[in-house]
Amino acid sequence: MSSGKMLRSRLCYRLGTAVRTPYKSLLYASASVEMIHAASLLHDDVIDGGHLRRSVPTFWTQYGIPGAILVGDLMLFKALDLMSDVDDGRLTRALIKLTGEVCDAESEQELFLRGKKPDWDNCVSIARRKTGALFAFAAFAGAGDDEYLQKAMLEAGYLVGTAYQLADDILDATGTVEISGKTLGSDEARKKTTAATVQTRSREDALAYVDNLLADAAGCIAKWPSAVEGWDVFEREDMRPALDRILQHTGA
Ligand code: IPE
Ligand code: IPE
Ligand code: MG
Ligand code: MG
Repeated sequence: MSSGKMLRSRLCYRLGTAVRTPYKSLLYASASVEMIHAASLLHDDVIDGGHLRRSVPTFWTQYGIPGAILVGDLMLFKALDLMSDVDDGRLTRALIKLTGEVCDAESEQELFLRGKKPDWDNCVSIARRKTGALFAFAAFAGAGDDEYLQKAMLEAGYLVGTAYQLADDILDATGTVEISGKTLGSDEARKKTTAATVQTRSREDALAYVDNLLADAAGCIAKWPSAVEGWDVFEREDMRPALDRILQHTGA
């Protein structure tokens, strides 16, 4: 696989360097979270029947579904192993818990919500856990030893990850394969509960919700000026361009 946009590791690095968290810890946390994210995509493409990821054919279409499942599992455990190499247990425990949330939300979306009448609160709750959780880990790992900052950054990560998944839901419904580099349209085809399938909110409304989540995320860390500096760089250089790219090509 190519490296993707590396949004989670960029978040960890931008916040972590701003508040002077030791570089080695940021490096290992970033590598671990990207590996877990990539593993989740290997499995997700099997689940969603995706043929294109990061502008290349998906792993399962080249090496088979058993191979994609096994390599995904391998990457999950290699990532935890890697994180535990430099950690006293705090970050590894957080990574296990938050990765569990991803699996929990994916299972819920697949087994309980699929085909049911889509509901906005369910959709936000799924987005928060399935995508917010790894952004939360990345931000949490950036915080270093200050417990108050850890809590604030964890929540900021959840919020930005939720915003990103909601925007991605809209991309799935109305974006283009050329721009996204991945198979789209599977949410509707597979009757998933997403921001695009919930009829009670217009797209404009959903996009305003995304903007509010980003503002709330910034608000979480407003008390720490150095963290705010790191956040501003992340938002300007990494998250905004990614969101703009999604939204500009979905007619929003
Ligand atoms: C894709 O995430 C899956 C979602 C959570 C929407 P990214 O858009 O961050 O994927 P890569 O890593 O850049 O390919
Ligand atoms: C899956 O969400 C994100 C994960 C947590 C694996 P999507 O199914 O929306 O991700 P894409 O659109 O295929 O990247
Ligand atoms: Mg998918
Ligand atoms: Mg999607």
